[in-house]
Amino acid sequence: MPDATLLTLQPDAAGLAKAAAILRDGGLVSFPTETVYGLGADARNDRAVAGIYAAKGRPSFNPLIVHLPDLASAEKLCVFNDEAVRLASTFWPGALTLVLPLRADAGISKLVTAGLDTLAIRVPDHAVAQVLLRNFGGPVAAPSANPSGRVSPTTAAHVRDGLGGKINALLDGGSCTVGLESTIVSCVGAPALLRAGGIPAEALEACLGQPLALPSDPDTPVSPGQLASHYAPQGAVRLNVQAAEKDEVLLGFGAVDAALNLSPSGDLTEAAARLFECLHQLDAMGAQRIAVSPIPEHGLGRAINDRLRRAAAPR
Ligand code: TXA
Ligand code: MG
Repeated sequence: MPDATLLTLQPDAAGLAKAAAILRDGGLVSFPTETVYGLGADARNDRAVAGIYAAKGRPSFNPLIVHLPDLASAEKLCVFNDEAVRLASTFWPGALTLVLPLRADAGISKLVTAGLDTLAIRVPDHAVAQVLLRNFGGPVAAPSANPSGRVSPTTAAHVRDGLGGKINALLDGGSCTVGLESTIVSCVGAPALLRAGGIPAEALEACLGQPLALPSDPDTPVSPGQLASHYAPQGAVRLNVQAAEKDEVLLGFGAVDAALNLSPSGDLTEAAARLFECLHQLDAMGAQRIAVSPIPEHGLGRAINDRLRRAAAPR
């Protein structure tokens, strides 16, 4: 049951100070980023981080991304090689997460890394997240603020519906502009794409001047969150559909006659920003069978198709 009494904070000075105080006390605060809403806790506090797993109902082997306000604070936690510095200086703040070797003295809870000796870190490009991180003054572990396996939240209302009653506070920062989770790149060895996301792989490859490696074995959970069924709305999902069947609700892309359309003009950036909102709307409509138009497999289309394939995977 969503909890109508959930403490909702406005992103003004008082709300941001209160949010930082709750994090300091070991509480859970959902906050907006440019990608999706995060569910934040002090990454150094075992009990607080355990609270994230409990609120989400998340399998404990799935490690979390740590959020920091800038590259300098990230360098205190992780070892950056040349490729990592190049990517971070080009794309931070922004929708890029880097997986890097964790420093021994970083002080990060083992529950954040799920026992790995690497850490996923990101500097979000969102004014509210930035002020919160600076006010708090420490690393904030934050997965997307949805119950495990469900669609990620891109508005405060999505967070309230999914996690109200299970978290301490929600900072309302409106709609997320990117609308898809960050792209995850490992710089532990040769730079490798672990998750397609809000920054197209082509842009990262152009920055590096080399192609990104793909995880060698798709069955190995190098990014353990990449379980096949994920991002799922309640209804069954069928992909690459030209014409929906009678009992299907069509989630369109481009110039098609659809109940909901990701982007009538066929714009991938708009489609990315609207994807999770549309999946939430299909849940609200009670759609039992969902058909989805073909989405081109380039740029942000790769991340959109990745999320849609997981939404369509057997559960
Ligand atoms: O845009 C985003 O990245 C959002 C916002 C809130 O920042 N966060 C997000 O977190 O999507 P989450 O927990 O839903 O996804 C984190 C992903 C998971 O697939 C997890 O397995 C992977 O990051 N990950 C975390 N630490 C890792 C590590 N050390 N090595 C490999 N993958 C890691
Ligand atoms: Mg997630």
